[in-house]
Amino acid sequence: MTTARFSRRVFLGGAGAGLASLLLPAAVRGQNPPAALAVPQVDALTIRVVTDGLSYALAGSGREGDVEVTRPGHFLSEDAPPDKALIGEFGLSLHAESTRGTETRRVLVDFGHTPEAINNNLELLGIDVSRIDALVLSHGHYDHFGGLAGFLERHRASLKPGTPLYLGDEEAFCSRRYASNGKNYGVIDRASLDAARVRVVSSDAATLVAGHALNTGLIPQEGFEKVLSPTKFQAGLDAHGNGCRPDHLPGARGEAGDVPDDFHHEIATAYHVRGKGLVVLTSCGHRGVINSVRRARAVSGVDKVHAVIGGFHLAPHGEAYVADTLNSLLDLGVDHIVPLHCSGEPFYELARATAPERLIRAYVGTTLAFSA
Ligand SMILES: [Fe+2]
Repeated sequence: MTTARFSRRVFLGGAGAGLASLLLPAAVRGQNPPAALAVPQVDALTIRVVTDGLSYALAGSGREGDVEVTRPGHFLSEDAPPDKALIGEFGLSLHAESTRGTETRRVLVDFGHTPEAINNNLELLGIDVSRIDALVLSHGHYDHFGGLAGFLERHRASLKPGTPLYLGDEEAFCSRRYASNGKNYGVIDRASLDAARVRVVSSDAATLVAGHALNTGLIPQEGFEKVLSPTKFQAGLDAHGNGCRPDHLPGARGEAGDVPDDFHHEIATAYHVRGKGLVVLTSCGHRGVINSVRRARAVSGVDKVHAVIGGFHLAPHGEAYVADTLNSLLDLGVDHIVPLHCSGEPFYELARATAPERLIRAYVGTTLAFSA
């Protein structure tokens, strides 16, 4: 395999600096390497893009390396109503179906920006919500939880009672504003969780999800990757009981007023595919896609990374940073790179020029099937 290289520029200790990082307890700054969690190996894993910014009905399907890639195209199925189409928006939602022996598990990771998109796309893609075993919210940004309340409202009668919703910690619930202009960036509707009998599982440590998947727990911030802070959050509950409880936040964050968002609470999701390695779902990658991958490796004890799928949060960064990220993924030996959502076209174009055999383009509705 011939891979062009780019000049590296290393950022030392720049990430997460300032007030937000000073408020963190030492353990989450990465000083304490976690003990490996026994992550079961799955025989097969199918990731389906439910919500993403790109909807393209003319892309073909086929085998790309050892991954079966299916893009549904214009004609979703014989039964699909003619007046509906898959909806693309700036948000992310992924559906994962894994099998281990005779056991199948289904997990929905994030919920996109609007309920209209996720509900429409779930229906058109034929995803049976009643078979979902667990929900995951990667972080408290609207483009990932905005569809949640409407999804729960539509499907609460069909969801399994007590379906768990995994998230990093209480900080995901804080109300947020744009750092640039102070405008409201929304808050999670807690009543919708109660009405759907969803059981919130808040964990800063790595845990298993539905017995097959790995919730990485909080992602240490290290290396060259920088956390940008497009939002700030405030502790406290509003009149509807929405927001975050100050005494449930780590460190002194509950008393700090406006806190620049460093996504301390962000988590990633990963699977260990038998004979192939980890498949890491980054969601938005605010803590850095490489940091997310490193965390998945550290908490699973599995070094081989088969695929990285999701938002890499590179759109706001410059050319050198994008190149550093791609080089790091290549150095890690990642077999398949699937940028979505906030990854940005410069990364896609660079990856296509540099390592096209590793790059897979996915759109709304794309299915990526991995197997042992
Ligand atoms: Fe995002």
